[in-house]
Amino acid sequence: MFFAKKKDNNEPIKVPKHIAIIMDGNGRWAKNRGLPRSFGHSAGAKKFKEIARYCNKIGVEYLTVYAFSTENWRRPKEEVDGIMDLLRDYLKDSTNFKDENVKLRFVGDRTGLSDDIVALMEKAERDSDCANGMTAVLAVNYGGRHELLHVMKQLAKDGVKPEDITEDAVNERLYTAAYPDPDLIIRPSGEYRLSNFLTWQSAYSEFWFTPVLWPDFSKKDLDTAIKAYNRRQRRFGGV
Ligand code: IPE
Ligand code: IPE
Ligand code: MG
Repeated sequence: MFFAKKKDNNEPIKVPKHIAIIMDGNGRWAKNRGLPRSFGHSAGAKKFKEIARYCNKIGVEYLTVYAFSTENWRRPKEEVDGIMDLLRDYLKDSTNFKDENVKLRFVGDRTGLSDDIVALMEKAERDSDCANGMTAVLAVNYGGRHELLHVMKQLAKDGVKPEDITEDAVNERLYTAAYPDPDLIIRPSGEYRLSNFLTWQSAYSEFWFTPVLWPDFSKKDLDTAIKAYNRRQRRFGGV
């Protein structure tokens, strides 16, 4: 799928098939405004909808966003509860992407989430089963190391012999088994780290960082990231 916009040399710009975003900087965004952190999380959730719509429009096939990590439970209970409430509200909102034909999916450890949230997630997945537009994957209670431990346990449970432990055997057992690896990983907020996001899957991803805080992230920022991606040469170890 190609962008309508052109590169300087007039070549069409290629949209990455799979974009992943670490939605970071909500707390600092709120703090800068003298607001409680929860306001930043609300603004971040709104931003997700806007950017997801835009990605779908320009032809991104998969958008994976980091919404809550396995380490985020270390935050004060009040903040965690607030984030979970936002997730609940989002999942209950039946207008989510209905007209956009977006397929909603979730990755992460569901056993750590409350039953009603898991039920709402399953419903959102069922309700969007027939959508054939972009797949939006929300990483909730997700951690790359946690996911790899899950894979290792699964391999052991399945009785897979050492010689049969291949990359495919791992890929099949990841939470992300149904999706290709991310082509482009975007991290706003000025941090230069993965924070346990897509540890296995990011082996050959391109990275793009910006100091912009997630609630301020714009469609223009996404365009800039995609343009930067188009200037990268991916070699996957070859020449
Ligand atoms: C990202 O924003 C949202 C979650 C981790 C749930 P933060 O809450 O981490 O915002 P900062 O990094 O403190 O600004
Ligand atoms: C990563 O952000 C997790 C999400 C955006 C959901 P954090 O704010 O948790 O990452 P660190 O703690 O700065 O590495
Ligand atoms: Mg943060």
